[in-house]
Parts: sequence; structure tokens; C-alpha cells
Amino acid sequence: MLQNIDIHELNALMERDETAKRLITQMLTDHQMLISTISHEIRNPLTLVSSSLQLIESEHPEVKDFYGWTQTMEDVDFMRQLLEELSSFNNGSTVRPSCFSMEQLLKNIAISFAISLNEQESAIEFSSKIAPDLGDFVGDKLKLEEVLLNLLRNAKDAIEGAGSIFLSATRLEDSLQIEVKDTGCGIPDEHLQSIFEPFRTYKPNGTGLGLALSQQIITAHGGSLSVESQEGKGSTFSIILPIALLTTDYRPSV
Ligand SMILES: Nc1ncnc2c1ncn2[C@@H]1O[C@H](COP(=O)(O)OP(=O)(O)OP(=O)(O)O)[C@@H](O)[C@H]1O
Ligand SMILES: [Mg+2]
Repeated sequence: MLQNIDIHELNALMERDETAKRLITQMLTDHQMLISTISHEIRNPLTLVSSSLQLIESEHPEVKDFYGWTQTMEDVDFMRQLLEELSSFNNGSTVRPSCFSMEQLLKNIAISFAISLNEQESAIEFSSKIAPDLGDFVGDKLKLEEVLLNLLRNAKDAIEGAGSIFLSATRLEDSLQIEVKDTGCGIPDEHLQSIFEPFRTYKPNGTGLGLALSQQIITAHGGSLSVESQEGKGSTFSIILPIALLTTDYRPSV
């Protein structure tokens, strides 16, 4: 896996040499295609296996009592989720921009997240404060939504029993600041550097791609994703997104 430093060296090499630039770009595209193809090819039969297992379970409910059945269902679901995240991670740097209202997007996310907590009868208190002057934003709406959902899901996972999550968004001079703050378990100092690495997880069923993918998406928007955390007290993930210059090519879609 390429580290940040390798990517800087690659970029420098590409700026110096046109042939190297063409070859490296081609290699990176091939590499992405290969990952996409493999995950796609594995996902198809896996979906069939998953449907067959569900059919077996609905026609023979007694299988649920069979030793290992629940674990098998969970494992299949985990593989499906892993392949989905791998495929998103592979495409994380590709931004499909449109112009949309950031205030509306964040409000929609806040409503869906609050509903999902309610449905799970969770003891987590969720609140949000979204400034009304965020304005129109040019970026990849679906991907930014994915980032917010990743951060909110992580915040929820970090809270055992009762606690609170706060989503806020404010407009700075030439950027937007979006924060997800939780009163969960916090992150030990020795993990703070590594949690953004792909496949780094400290959860029994995590894939460790959520933060790596989120950082990749925010970087592709020219922004930054950072964290402040205190073990036992909670964490705050902060996104800074530069406000791109609006052009007439983009019309608000919400
Ligand atoms: N809000 C948080 N509070 C405490 N720890 C966190 C928080 N967010 C992330 N972490 C830590 O960072 C690790 C990496 O997070 P990341 O979202 O990348 O993967 P994950 O949640 O483990 O798996 P998934 O790929 O399913 O999201 C987590 O396993 C967890 O230990
Ligand atoms: Mg996660």
C-alpha cells in the first residue's frame, strides 16, 4: 500500500517527467480497475450465496438453531460489507461534483440519523446545530454524505449505553467546518496516528476502511479531516472543506 510520502515522491516524479507521468497514470488506472473487477466478481456469487441462505432460513426456520448458522450469516454479511467498502475506497478520489445546499444535506443526514437511533431504541442523545449561512457548495454530494455517515456511525459505536453525539456546521471565511463530537470511549494516544490507515480497526466486526475512505474523500475535495480525542471522555472529528468557486456549470440540485 502506498504511504503519503511515496505519493509525494510519485507526484514530484510525474511533474518532472511527462513519460513517467503517462506510465504512472496508466498503472494507477489499471490498478484501480483490477481492484474494482475483483471486488465486483466476488460480490456477484456472494450475493447469490447470501440470497440462498436467506431462502433456506425462511423455508426451514429450524436452521437458526443449528450450531454455526448465525455466525455463517454474519460472516457472509461482513464479506459483502467489506467488498462494498473496498470498492468505495478504490473510487474515493474520484469526485463527481454538483452544486447543492450543504445546510439541506446536513439537515437530511441529521434527520435520518436521529430516526435510526430512535428505531434502535438507543439511549444516545443526538443534537445538531447547522448554521443557516453555509450556502451552496460544489462537491460530490453522495461521497460527502458517506463521510458524515461514517463519522456518525463511529461516534455511535464509541458510546456504550448512554451518551451524546453533536453534529455542527459553521461557515468560516473561505471554508466550511463540520464537526462530529461524541462522549464515547475516546481514542488512546497510541492509536491516534494509525486510525486513518486502511484496514486499521479496533472493533471485532470493523473493516477499518471508514476513516481511510473518509479522509481520501475530504482530501479529494481539497480539505482536511482531523481528530481530537481524550480516552474515556470522547472524540471530535473535524472536517474543513474549502468553498470552491461556484461556476455557472453547476446548478443547485437540492
Ligand atoms: N468516534 C470514535 N470514538 C472512538 N474511537 C473511534 C472513533 N472513530 C473511530 N475510532 C477508532 O478508529 C478505528 C478506525 O475507524 P474506521 O471507521 O476506519 O473503521 P471501523 O469503524 O473500525 O470499521 P468500518 O470500516 O466498519 O468503519 C475504529 O476501529 C475505532 O477504534
Ligand atoms: Mg467506522
